[in-house]
Amino acid sequence: MEVRPAALRVDVNPTGADQVTQRAPVSGFAPIGVGIDMVDIERFGALLKRRGSAKRRLFAPEELAYTDTLANPVPSLAARFAAKEAVMKALGVGLGSFDWGDVAVWRNPGGAPSLIVRGRAAELADGAGVANWLVSLTHTDSIAAATVVACA
Ligand SMILES: CC(C)(COP(=O)(O)OP(=O)(O)OC[C@H]1O[C@@H](n2cnc3c(N)ncnc32)[C@H](O)[C@@H]1OP(=O)(O)O)[C@@H](O)C(=O)NCCC(=O)NCCS
Repeated sequence: MEVRPAALRVDVNPTGADQVTQRAPVSGFAPIGVGIDMVDIERFGALLKRRGSAKRRLFAPEELAYTDTLANPVPSLAARFAAKEAVMKALGVGLGSFDWGDVAVWRNPGGAPSLIVRGRAAELADGAGVANWLVSLTHTDSIAAATVVACA
């Protein structure tokens, strides 16, 4: 049986049509760190309400450009906040290591997220040998979560 690298794996779905399930190319995406984080949406929404300046401090302009279009932005903001903490875990650093705005979730056409990493976070990533990032977000009415993979 032919064994393909996961990054090029093609699964056959029940309809018989081939479906690419992993989009990352083989080179440049060797995982060297992983992070996960969950955020309670009610608590996070209350924090944003209590501290009027928190939104601008926590989120980059490209994130707010998207979430400001939403009727209820809190779940998407909470997921983006989880992504920032997941990046800290993937880098093995903690709160205060970089500004919240150094990590931004970019929403690609079709909805898939990717990460923009800059400033001190980019310096830490360079030092750790991170060349690329993979990110996935989810949110319900009560919980938001993000998983981040740092790749060499
Ligand atoms: C991907 C999909 C199954 C996720 O469904 P879902 O259960 O409602 O998603 P969740 O609530 O768990 O998570 C929402 C997050 O999923 C992510 N997401 C959305 N679309 C995505 C996609 N195509 N690929 C990867 N992640 C996606 C986003 O980060 C989103 O958060 P945001 O809305 O705050 O940006 C659904 O959005 C979908 O079917 N989208 C259409 C994808 C598509 O057909 N794309 C065409 C090719 S470009």
